[in-house]
Amino acid sequence: MVPPWLAVARQFRPSRGRQILPGAGTSAFSGPADRPITVAGATGQGDAMRRRLIRGGVLAVLALAALWEPAAARAEDAGRAVFTRQCLACHSVVRMQNRVGPSLYGVVGRAAGAVSSYIYSAALRASGLVWTEPVLEAFLADPQALIPGSAMRYAGLKDAADRAALIAYLKGL
Ligand code: HEC
Repeated sequence: MVPPWLAVARQFRPSRGRQILPGAGTSAFSGPADRPITVAGATGQGDAMRRRLIRGGVLAVLALAALWEPAAARAEDAGRAVFTRQCLACHSVVRMQNRVGPSLYGVVGRAAGAVSSYIYSAALRASGLVWTEPVLEAFLADPQALIPGSAMRYAGLKDAADRAALIAYLKGL
């Protein structure tokens, strides 16, 4: 016996229904001509199982997303801490707020020397660089090696994990 709720649910899923319309079937499953019949074996159980699997899959994806999101957030938090220790003395992340160095708001993906209210060194202006992640990575490891004569007097951030976290943080600004 098909429970009424399932019968109703099937009406809203015509493409996946298993009902055979009267006259359409040539098989042994054809029933009385006045009402559709249900193919044997295709009871509500299979559907219920599938629904349970789908629901389980959705929950698994949500659980993974919940694990994933804090991982990214943790990298940003770690990056913020690195920024506070290593960069904050000379840089702000507030838009157009310059200190000894230019504002780093939106720096990832920006052309070098692009903050109009900041006066850069000739070396940095002439560099023609764009602050993509790999370029930033090289710069932060050793600023003077990438741009000899840059006004950024900073020896470099030697720890690769710190650089990665810092870049994740800058990217989120
Ligand atoms: C002692 C001060 C000082 C420290 C510390 C410092 N910077 Fe700088 N930074 C500067 C100065 C000055 C410039 C401008 C360089 C120039 O004009 O050649 C600069 C430029 C930059 C630029 C280029 C920005 C642009 O608009 O082209 C980036 C990116 C940068 N700094 C990132 C960092 C990061 C990230 C840190 C922390 C790891 C850091 N800096 C630490 C002083 C500093």
